Amino acid sequence: MRILIIGAGGHAQVVADILLRMREAGSPVEPVGYVDDNPDLGGQQRLGLPVLGMVADVSAIPHDSLIVAIGDNKTRQHLFECLQKQGEVFAIARHPDAVIAPDVTIGAGTMICAGAIVNPGSIIGVDVILNTGSTVDHHNHIDDHVHIAPGVHLGGDVGIGEGTLVGIGAIVMPQRRIGAWSIVGAGALVHADTPDHVVAMGIPARIRRHLPGDEGQGE
Ligand SMILES: CC(C)(COP(=O)(O)OP(=O)(O)OC[C@H]1O[C@@H](n2cnc3c(N)ncnc32)[C@H](O)[C@@H]1OP(=O)(O)O)[C@@H](O)C(=O)NCCC(=O)NCCS
Repeated sequence: MRILIIGAGGHAQVVADILLRMREAGSPVEPVGYVDDNPDLGGQQRLGLPVLGMVADVSAIPHDSLIVAIGDNKTRQHLFECLQKQGEVFAIARHPDAVIAPDVTIGAGTMICAGAIVNPGSIIGVDVILNTGSTVDHHNHIDDHVHIAPGVHLGGDVGIGEGTLVGIGAIVMPQRRIGAWSIVGAGALVHADTPDHVVAMGIPARIRRHLPGDEGQGE
């Protein structure tokens, strides 16, 4: 399966590395290269794979599926939905050193990094990032376009709403619900449910501010 990577930044190179490791491990995936709207990147190589053009060039580049490899959740959602409307299909990038229970469901376009662990009964949405060394315990529900950052630990039966970023090293206690399009700060300890569109941080995590519906979250 020929996979084209949308984006050619640092995050995209992690996706490329996962696809290359999958191929080494015997999976029939073939990363063909990247597209990126930064004109300075055209023709460059990243991890031995070429930057083949811009996002508008996708339909002219031979491929079977895509992965949107952009860290910001809102930007990734936007590109994912635009490309889906054009009839594109999305691959799953799953590092061979991720440990995922057999009954876990994983949505299209999702990326699961090295060292991530997902325990039984969990449902992972489309276009999600489970970053390096994150753990998602049993019966979690991770909604679409979420980013679980490196080293996050989610207890059992946790729910993370659409588009939320759980920052590096945060901990979410079991059975908690985190709302949609929110940010949990790096290193936070979430011990109470949090609503949509908020920034919560600290130990214990407190809501520090509210986010407008359309604000990006940065990488
Ligand atoms: C929580 C967060 C969104 C706040 O960002 P921000 O609104 O730009 O906040 P600022 O950097 O302006 O800091 C505001 C205050 O919050 C404090 N603060 C910032 N992040 C904090 C965190 N994670 N935990 C505790 N306090 C934090 C700052 O020290 C500062 O305190 P002060 O007012 O006493 O000086 C951000 O710091 C964060 O943790 N983002 C997650 C990033 C991440 O993990 N990305 C994944 C990449 S793979």
